[in-house]
Amino acid sequence: MSEKKRYRSSEWYHSKSHKRDTFVHRGWMRNQGHPDHLFDGRPVIGICNTWSELTPCNGHFREIAESVKKGVYEAGGFPLEFPVFSASESNLRPTAMLFRNLASMDVEEAIRGNPMDGVVLLMGCDKTTPSLLMGAASVDIPTIGVSGGPMLNGHHKGKTIGSGTGVWQLDADLSAGKITEQDFKEAEISMSRSKGNCMTMGTASTMGSMVEALGMALPHNAAIPAVDARRYSLAHMSGKRIVEMVKENLTMSKIVSKASFENAIKVNGAIGGSTNAVIHLAAIAGRLEIDLTLDDWEKCGKDIPTLVNLQPSGKYLMEDFYYAGGVPAVIKQLLDKKLINADALTVNGKTIEENNIKADCWNKDVIKNFESPLVKDGGIKILRGNIAPDGAILKPSAASPELMQHKGKAVVFESVEEFQDKIDDPKLDVDENSILVLKNCGPKGYPGMAEVGNMRLPQKILKQGIRDMIRISDARMSGTAYGTVILHTSPEAAIKGPLAAVQNGDLIEVDVNNGKLQLEVPDEVIAKRLETYKPILPDIKGGYQKMYVDHVMQADKGADLDFLVGKRGSEVKRHSH
Ligand code: FES
Repeated sequence: MSEKKRYRSSEWYHSKSHKRDTFVHRGWMRNQGHPDHLFDGRPVIGICNTWSELTPCNGHFREIAESVKKGVYEAGGFPLEFPVFSASESNLRPTAMLFRNLASMDVEEAIRGNPMDGVVLLMGCDKTTPSLLMGAASVDIPTIGVSGGPMLNGHHKGKTIGSGTGVWQLDADLSAGKITEQDFKEAEISMSRSKGNCMTMGTASTMGSMVEALGMALPHNAAIPAVDARRYSLAHMSGKRIVEMVKENLTMSKIVSKASFENAIKVNGAIGGSTNAVIHLAAIAGRLEIDLTLDDWEKCGKDIPTLVNLQPSGKYLMEDFYYAGGVPAVIKQLLDKKLINADALTVNGKTIEENNIKADCWNKDVIKNFESPLVKDGGIKILRGNIAPDGAILKPSAASPELMQHKGKAVVFESVEEFQDKIDDPKLDVDENSILVLKNCGPKGYPGMAEVGNMRLPQKILKQGIRDMIRISDARMSGTAYGTVILHTSPEAAIKGPLAAVQNGDLIEVDVNNGKLQLEVPDEVIAKRLETYKPILPDIKGGYQKMYVDHVMQADKGADLDFLVGKRGSEVKRHSH
């Protein structure tokens, strides 16, 4: 042992001065049948698993973990799998986002408190990716990400249907009387027909792509379908690589820099990624003590066309994306245009340029080129104005070009409940030029910032064949949703941000190209309205939710808890047995 390099786990398993502690740490582990030689000082690799039968997108993660373990053993490491809080987007109420920060705390403390020298993060369903990256960043040991991969394309009645996006379309068709309840129900299993996460370019696939763009996973991590043998091969290779990373002491903060985040923003624009990436990247950057603001999205997202023709912005699904070349084929095009920080390091020890410069594109309709992109001006647009002094966002690739410059009368809903009660009321004073405004759905107002920003249109408007209107809120929207939807207005209405001052009939000007979101009401009237405004606050009974609303930061800051920002390192106090 003395000639060997001592890793972090040796503090548990090889203490010369605390032999009784070593007996306890090592001895109890032996009850699982691990032979003596696994405790010879080799790197101990934690496999941080978000497997749960209640998180169906991550339901296959035990199999992925087995492949990771093979790679770890092959490289001479000792793999140990551990569970962490698993936030399911499809099941967890009131919203999975409420628990992203809680899960990150679990991840952080589990990594720090246990004998591991490196960690493999198994991530899939939307919030499981940022929560694991956030927690791991605050500890900062060698870390590699492995995503679970998307489901196979949905197929229903001769058409492909995409996760989430298909639900919104089917729901609109059901509301408009174009399909029956039975058709609607039958689409369920046709949509989700294999293991994996949503196979549209929703938040899960976006965050899988962000992991790749940040350099935190091996190439192709985002797009290989969950059931494709190559997913398990990638998991195996990641297990092998993490052992080497421990030997190189290649920690997360040595890989992820401001340049990596700039690359991620550019890749997000090119893939037509989810608006949720704005919040999650800000939170991850905060943990790494990297300053990332909406201005960076403005600066780096500029001039990035959307190349990837995937739902909800386009036509295809993740399976098609993988066969077309996946994220590497997108990064290659950005590299060719000198839009990527080519020297940014990645987990395999190579730069992002070395990993992707030779990537091929096999289908130019799925991954378009700069000369004929899906959307010329993609990315995420930042809007500011007297409604959102700290910013609001919009995804142009999912919006209607004719609504990018628009002035309309506000139709205001003070809460989601009011929206649900009134939206289909035939007496609602609304037409296709109106702007729907929803308040009190921000981080504090609807703890977790519900994905309700893509408000469904009033039935009477849908029946006219209209499928899009401008919607403004302090909420988020699902990455699988589409429409001219302005989200994350900061500060939120619940803390008397100026969105709270909007009233029915007020004129609002939206000018996306010029980043403008303006309420045509004099400043002094806005100030007066805010003085008397009574936000609709959530009924919090205590527990984690109380801590959340007391400490959650606004959307433009990543909606992390204020006391979780930053790195706290991997050192931990010994407790003697
Ligand atoms: Fe899990 Fe969409 S519900 S990724």
